[in-house]
Amino acid sequence: MVEDLRLDSLEGVGPVTTRKLSDAGVHNVMDLIVRGPVEIAEITGMEKDTAEKIVNKARQHLVETGLLSRDFVKATEVYKRRQDIGKITTGTNCLDTLFDGGIETQALTEVYGEFGSGKTQFAHTLSVMVQKPKTEGGLDGGVLYIDTENTFRPERIVSIAQAHEMDPEKVLDRIIVARAYNSAHQTLILEEAGPVIEENNIKLIVVDSAVGLFRAEYLGRGTLSNRQQKLNHFVHMLSRIAETYNCAAIATNQVMASPDVFFGDPTRPIGGNVVAHTSTYRIYFKKSGKKRIARMVDSPHHPEEEVIFALGEAGVMDLEDAEKKTTKKTTKKATKKEKESEPETAIESAELETVQATEDADSDDLESLEE
Ligand code: GTP
Ligand code: MG
Repeated sequence: MVEDLRLDSLEGVGPVTTRKLSDAGVHNVMDLIVRGPVEIAEITGMEKDTAEKIVNKARQHLVETGLLSRDFVKATEVYKRRQDIGKITTGTNCLDTLFDGGIETQALTEVYGEFGSGKTQFAHTLSVMVQKPKTEGGLDGGVLYIDTENTFRPERIVSIAQAHEMDPEKVLDRIIVARAYNSAHQTLILEEAGPVIEENNIKLIVVDSAVGLFRAEYLGRGTLSNRQQKLNHFVHMLSRIAETYNCAAIATNQVMASPDVFFGDPTRPIGGNVVAHTSTYRIYFKKSGKKRIARMVDSPHHPEEEVIFALGEAGVMDLEDAEKKTTKKTTKKATKKEKESEPETAIESAELETVQATEDADSDDLESLEE
């Protein structure tokens, strides 16, 4: 851990308090800020006043070490801090245009849309792209992927990495997957994420989906306020983590796009307003046949704009590239058919090759495992 972030680097925090805090899952100075005084008091059983003092000291400490901006700052300083913001390319020209270069760090980006609109594919693509070097639009960083719907697929990561000419094994190695089984577990994972983020130079946190488990567990009107409160806590923590650790956070949210079910704007996320209010950027994905439409909604500095993209081998793709790939595939299929109709001799020689290959099978298997 960076020396500056150790809990005992704070004046007045001794071994007893440090232990109390780490028992409650607070491992460094950043965590103190992320959790806030009310929660610190709750989880450690210390007085609210004491918790407030410690959190204030933590804030002061981070300001002094330059990791956090001061409470009252000149706009020039805000501007300077914004220069530290990193951007992750989406791997497509169209979505990069929409995001004005890519997904920003120090911000929470909400991606909402109906089932199959590409939210998970988008998250997978970014998990690969963030690992690219800075010169190629990435941040040379790792990923924390919180999977609440069991939809994380390493196979997709492999094919996206290959499409972008990256070593799939290395790419997989830098993605830390945390499978969340219920909303409390999802929250716990985030609460404990601090050291993981630091140790693995995490630059992207994905929560796919952020809302799903909360929605499933808190059914009915009576539980709505409880659910919103818990979700609010989760999303705020996510946003604070993005800010303090200078990483990008993506939260997905499924909505139904059927206008006959909901009155008013059919694109409004139901029950997901909490996410909406906390997010810096919001992007809406919509299906349009095989194509997908992405719209930037509610951004502080982007114009409300729409672009068309596609889903394919390389994850989210520019339409032209996706179309090129499909034509290639059809020609490949055609040549395969031609081959199939070739005389038997070709098949026989192929069989011979297989026999030879099986002789070296053991070593081959090892190699492919190691690759
Ligand atoms: P929910 O999680 O159900 O809300 O949907 P989502 O928005 O996360 O959708 P997801 O990102 O899973 O998109 C699913 C769509 O991606 C599928 O309908 C396919 O069109 C496309 N897709 C997924 N994998 C592949 C692939 O390997 N190749 C191609 N061409 N398309 C794919
Ligand atoms: Mg999904």
